Amino acid sequence: MNSEDFDGTVDKDAILRALNMINDPDLGRSIVELGFVKNLRACGGNVAFDIELTTPACPVKDQMHEQAIDLVKQIEGVQNVAVNMTSRTRQLVDIRGGIPGVKNTIAVAAGKGGVGKSTTAVNLALALADSGAKVGLLDADIHGPSIPIMLGVPAGEMPDGEEEDGVQKIYPLDRFGIKLMSVGFLTDRDSPIIWRGPMVGKMLTTFLQSVVWGDLDYLIIDLPPGTGDVQLTLIQTAPLSGAVIVTTPEAVAGEDVIRAGKMFEKMGQTLNVNVPILGIVENMSWFESPDGQRHYIFGEGGGQRIAGVFGVPLLGQVPREPNITRGGDSGIPVLVSQPNSPTSALYREIAGGVARRVSTLAMEESAV
Ligand SMILES: Nc1ncnc2c1ncn2[C@@H]1O[C@H](COP(=O)(O)OP(=O)(O)OP(=O)(O)O)[C@@H](O)[C@H]1O
Ligand SMILES: [Mg+2]
Repeated sequence: MNSEDFDGTVDKDAILRALNMINDPDLGRSIVELGFVKNLRACGGNVAFDIELTTPACPVKDQMHEQAIDLVKQIEGVQNVAVNMTSRTRQLVDIRGGIPGVKNTIAVAAGKGGVGKSTTAVNLALALADSGAKVGLLDADIHGPSIPIMLGVPAGEMPDGEEEDGVQKIYPLDRFGIKLMSVGFLTDRDSPIIWRGPMVGKMLTTFLQSVVWGDLDYLIIDLPPGTGDVQLTLIQTAPLSGAVIVTTPEAVAGEDVIRAGKMFEKMGQTLNVNVPILGIVENMSWFESPDGQRHYIFGEGGGQRIAGVFGVPLLGQVPREPNITRGGDSGIPVLVSQPNSPTSALYREIAGGVARRVSTLAMEESAV
């Protein structure tokens, strides 16, 4: 900072002392100490600065903004305070050699089918984008790519591609502000190819390496269930920053989810990488009848129990809701059709939790 940034009407140290009282709730340290306060300047009683967070999806962003204004306004000589909230998304693992321009790749996984993995991936991606993050969504579920349908991509619409100097490039589609690519675009929706054998790995790698994502804060990947060739190829091509695991509350799904979690640990060991579990999303937790009563049709506590087993947060519990099913069927997800609904708020909370975990783990990692 230059000395001209302060004209002497306000004491710079007093501002820093005031801002030092604001703590980042996850990192447990002051925003001054963490170096989040940038471009501090004061002129004629007008104070301005940036607070650079570790993710645009920080759930306490607004609160911090208000707190900073309140605290600085109390300082002698201060008349106006302008705080610009910015962010620089931290990268959780070193994924150099991974996908160019992509800071964090987050897999959405489940131990068994039909628990709402794709629904969670879609709404998580949209909620992260809502917060201002640049987001991509990769539908890698070779068993039946459903994400293009959930995002209303008309059958037959294909991503653009070109060949430049012998290098194949494929440009993702843009849907509701997120970039979308699906392994389904490799095949005809009505006549799926059979993904088996060594050719699959090679095809998938070539495909994934051809996608031009541009700069992304988060790439959400809807993984197929299991531990086969496809999953290995995927995490070799696109090393994962972490995984979000989806489960339903009943015990049987719980056992499968533990297997899914172990899968990441095993993959991590095989490939000598650390794939942390970011948290658990419990889906179809309850059903609410018109009288407002919650019915726990699949039992209770499964998500919490699994979160406990892995020592990770339960990121959220999503009820079984007709507007979620409708969102999936109609091609207009609930976050787009009803952005102010409690369901959308719930997904934004989950997205905030994911983003916080990524930045916290990234900051801890860079501290060692
Ligand atoms: N919370 C919810 N409330 C209501 N319907 C839901 C909810 N979550 C998912 N669904 C619906 O359940 C069905 C299965 O969800 P989804 O396709 O997301 O599951 P999946 O785990 O990806 O399945 P698959 O294993 O087939 O890939 C879809 O019709 C979806 O709209
Ligand atoms: Mg699916």
